[in-house]
Amino acid sequence: MAESITITDNRTGESFEVPIVDGTVSAQQWSKHLPGIWFLDPALVTTAMSESAISYLDGEAGILRYRGYPIEQLAEQSTYLEVAYLLLNGELPTQAELSAWVEEVTHHTFIHENVRKRFLEGFHYDAHPMGMMMSTIAALATFYPEARNIADPNVRYQQIVRLIGKMPTVAAFAYRHRLGLPYIYPDPELSYTKNYMNMLWRRTEPKYMASPVLSRALEVLFILHADHEQNCSTNAMRAVGSSQADPYSTTAAAIAALSGPLHGGANEAVLRMLDEIGSKDNIPGFIEQVKAGKCKLMGFGHRVYKNYDPRARIIKRVAEEVFEVTGRNPKIDIAVELERIALSDEYFIKRKLYPNVDFYSGIIYQAMGFTPDHFTVLFGIPRTAGWLAQWQEMLTDPEQKIARPRQVYTGAEKRDFVPIEARGHQLVTA
Ligand code: SDX
Repeated sequence: MAESITITDNRTGESFEVPIVDGTVSAQQWSKHLPGIWFLDPALVTTAMSESAISYLDGEAGILRYRGYPIEQLAEQSTYLEVAYLLLNGELPTQAELSAWVEEVTHHTFIHENVRKRFLEGFHYDAHPMGMMMSTIAALATFYPEARNIADPNVRYQQIVRLIGKMPTVAAFAYRHRLGLPYIYPDPELSYTKNYMNMLWRRTEPKYMASPVLSRALEVLFILHADHEQNCSTNAMRAVGSSQADPYSTTAAAIAALSGPLHGGANEAVLRMLDEIGSKDNIPGFIEQVKAGKCKLMGFGHRVYKNYDPRARIIKRVAEEVFEVTGRNPKIDIAVELERIALSDEYFIKRKLYPNVDFYSGIIYQAMGFTPDHFTVLFGIPRTAGWLAQWQEMLTDPEQKIARPRQVYTGAEKRDFVPIEARGHQLVTA
C-alpha cells in the first residue's frame, strides 16, 4: 500500500497524490495544487515547522533522546558541557575536543564591567531575575557588534561560546543583586556548575567548596533541561533567528518565551501552587478546583508527552539525593500525594496528563536554597545550548527562510474613513 494520500478538489474534480514522508505530508505539495488555500493551525498544534536532528521525543512512550542518546544515559554518565557539545556538533567529543571546548567556555564567563556596573545595578532590588537575564543578554549584543554577521561560522561559534559561558554569570549576578550582596566573579578552576554555585553562594571563604552531591544534582538538572525539540522558546529562537537577528537578541526572545507560566515559568508556579495547597488534607479540594476548570495543576500536562515525562522521573530520584544533604523539603510529600491522586483520577487519565519536567524541579531548587523567582533562570541557563543548537541548525538548513505564517482574516470589510466629529455613535467592536 502506497505511503501517500490522495486529495480531491471537489470544486474541480481534480485529484492529486501526496507522499507521506516521516509521518508528514508536504505543505509545499499542497500549495502547488491548491494555491491560496492555507492550513489553519492555531499554536502549530499539528504542524511540523522544521526538520531537526537534535532531539527526539516519543510522546506516547515517554522517550527523550539528544542526538540519539537516551536522556537517562546522558543524565547518568555525562556532564552539561559535554551534552552542550553533543547538541551543537551532533557527536560526543573526544577527550581532546571536550578539553578544548571546556577551556573555551570557561574563559568566556566574564561579562563587561559596564554590564555589571551600569546595567545590572540599574535594576530595582526586587526586579524579577528573568527580566534581568532577558534584558542583560539582549544588551550583550551591543558589546559584540560583529555578532550580526551570522553567516560566518566562526562568528557564530564565538557567540555560542560567549553565551553559554556568560549565562551562569549573568544569572548569578542577578541573584546577588536581589540579595544586596557583592558580586562573586567566575573562578576558572571550577567546573561549569561548581563555578555557578561559587558565584551564587560564596561568602568570605577564600575558595568556594561545592557539595559534590549538589553540584552533581545541578549537573543532571542542567542536562535534563538542555534541549527539547520545538518547544515554545525554541520556536521563538528559530522565528526571531530566521530574520537573521544577532544571537544575543534572538536568545533574549527565547528567554522571554521561557518566562511564561505555561512554559519554563511553570517550575516557579508549581512551588506557589504547593504553598497554596499547604497540606495533604487540602489536596482533594484543590483537585476539584482543577477539574472545575478554576485553575491548572501546574507541572502537569504536555503538548507532546502523553505519558510520564522521562525527565520528571529522573528529577524525582535526584530530589531524594539532594535531600540527603539539604534535609527533606516537606513539599515533596504534598507533590507525591498530589501526583498519586491525580494519576488515579479520570479527569487526568482521560486527558493523559502526567507530571512534566517542572513538577519536581522547583522542590529541589528550593531545598538547595534558591527562591522561587530564580527557578526559571535555572531552566534558561542550560536551555541556552539547545536554543543555540536549534538556531544554528535553522541557519544552515537550505529549506529555511524567514518565518512568516499566513492568517485567516476575520476583521471588518472595506469601509471609508469617519471624520472625528461624526464618530462615537458607531458600535465599538472588540
Ligand atoms: C515545559 O513543549 C515543551 O517541550 C516544553 C518543555 C520543554 O522542555 O521545553 O517540556 C517545558 O514547558 C513543560 C510544561 C510546563 N507547563 C506547565 O506545567 C503548565 C501546566 N500545563 C498546561 O498549561 C498544559 O498542559 C501545557 C501548556 C503544558 C500543554 O497544553 P496543551 O498541549 O495546549 O494542552 P491543552 O491546554 O489543550 O489541554 C488539553 C486538556 C484541556 O482540557 P479540556 O479543554 O479538553 O477539557 O487538558 C487540560 C486542558 O484544560 N489540561 C490541564 C492541564 N494541562 C492541560 N488541566 C489541568 N491542569 C493542567 N496542567
